Amino acid sequence: MADKRRFDLFADLLTRTFPDVQRAFDIAGGMGKLNSALTARGLDVLTFDKRWKHDDVQYAQRLFTLDEPCACDVVVGMHPDGATRIIVEYAAKHRVPFAIVPCCSDNGMPYKPWMRHLAELGGTLGLDVEEVALPMQGRARVLVGRPRP
Ligand SMILES: C[S@@+](CC[C@H](N)C(=O)[O-])C[C@H]1O[C@@H](n2cnc3c(N)ncnc32)[C@H](O)[C@@H]1O
Repeated sequence: MADKRRFDLFADLLTRTFPDVQRAFDIAGGMGKLNSALTARGLDVLTFDKRWKHDDVQYAQRLFTLDEPCACDVVVGMHPDGATRIIVEYAAKHRVPFAIVPCCSDNGMPYKPWMRHLAELGGTLGLDVEEVALPMQGRARVLVGRPRP
């Protein structure tokens, strides 16, 4: 069972890590709980996911792809499943920072190798990637990437 505090914990980390960003893309946002937490902290957030039922937040009801026009200063994802790799690639393509809390891989890779793979992917694509942790149970490791100058 995922920790219910994860959205507030991640939102706090994001506002600390990226104090100057205003617009965020929240990828695979499910019901929109991370959106609400970030909006409450003053960000302009658009969530991408395919759910019909979701909270009353700015919501693009579709799967996120690399073709999505970039209208964000940061791209983020909490347990974004099949969208995880796309977030890293999108950040590299548009040279915006990203932060993700990965859970499952998109190809059955175990968790630790999957984390290494994502960090290496970011590095290969021109991003400096670091790992931090949220103080919670479950999948709590965060990968933060910034375009290399
Ligand atoms: C494990 S759920 C996490 C939902 C939410 N972030 C949370 O922490 O409760 C994974 C979500 O990823 C979404 N998803 C997977 N691939 C996606 C994509 N390419 N674009 C948008 N959403 C995607 C699924 O629809 C699902 O809602």
